[in-house]
Amino acid sequence: YPIFAQKGYENPRETTGRIVCANCHLANKPVEIEVPQAVLPDTVFEAIVRIPYDMQLKQVLSNGKKGGLNVGAVLILPEGFELAPTDRISPELKEKIGNLSFQSYHPNKKNIIVIGPVPGQKYREIVFPILSPDPSTKKDIHFLKYPIYVGGNRGRGQIYPDGSKSNNTVYNATSAGIVSKIVRKEKGGYEITTVDASEGRQSVDIIPPGPELLVSEGESIKLDQPLTSNPNVGGFGQGDAEIVLQDPLRIQGLLFFFTSVIFAQVIFSSEKETV
Ligand code: HEM
Repeated sequence: YPIFAQKGYENPRETTGRIVCANCHLANKPVEIEVPQAVLPDTVFEAIVRIPYDMQLKQVLSNGKKGGLNVGAVLILPEGFELAPTDRISPELKEKIGNLSFQSYHPNKKNIIVIGPVPGQKYREIVFPILSPDPSTKKDIHFLKYPIYVGGNRGRGQIYPDGSKSNNTVYNATSAGIVSKIVRKEKGGYEITTVDASEGRQSVDIIPPGPELLVSEGESIKLDQPLTSNPNVGGFGQGDAEIVLQDPLRIQGLLFFFTSVIFAQVIFSSEKETV
């Protein structure tokens, strides 16, 4: 969950460029981001994040039953950019956003926005309403080209913040030996007893409800050998985009230049005709 990232990491983007959701959502799946190539200051625009996946997919839930996937994302904007205030969002844009409620990653990091978990059926495409900053009122903001980073995830993670595994991952043998007993537990899941062939030492691997068993009694297994399938059908991906914070005076200047060139051409060609 984004909240796990917010609690565990001051900055969601590590110096290597990796976004921290990947530490617990181990499978890699695509995400897409779409932003305008350029925006004017103090303007509301859309950042569209797509988290595609097959709608038919079902995943293992925490009780071992199967269910739909949820999605979530983190959007890392340049300093000064932030979520657009509600009164600046047009009715058309409100409709595209739907019922989503975005949050800042941290109260003093308004340029980093998180969302989720929300149902993937409805929100494989998430529209973030963003307000660009105004360099004329914020002195540390400049008219430049800036990077935007996004991380997007569908499906449950593999590791909890305490380091324990979720039931949405593969379980491996913690010792080598012969599988002497497999007990299927009432609420699902297994207890697998392995006996070390030379020393006769017993060890027990506990498998929660969810992953499917791949070994059977009497089988000889190696250390770290997968005891189960990997039920994870989801995954996390990251991407980036660029946006130019554009100076309106420069556009006015350019228009003035174009107009003057056309004007000069008209004069020039009409003078030629009169000669
Ligand atoms: C669940 C997104 C960071 C561990 C989820 C879900 C979403 C999500 C959307 C719900 C999936 C579903 O129900 O289908 C994200 C995003 C992150 C992030 C966008 C980064 C901003 C993390 C981190 C950890 C983590 C850092 C580990 C410390 C998990 C686990 C679950 C989960 C274990 C399953 C919880 C359960 O169902 O019991 N995450 N996550 N996530 N996430 Fe993350």
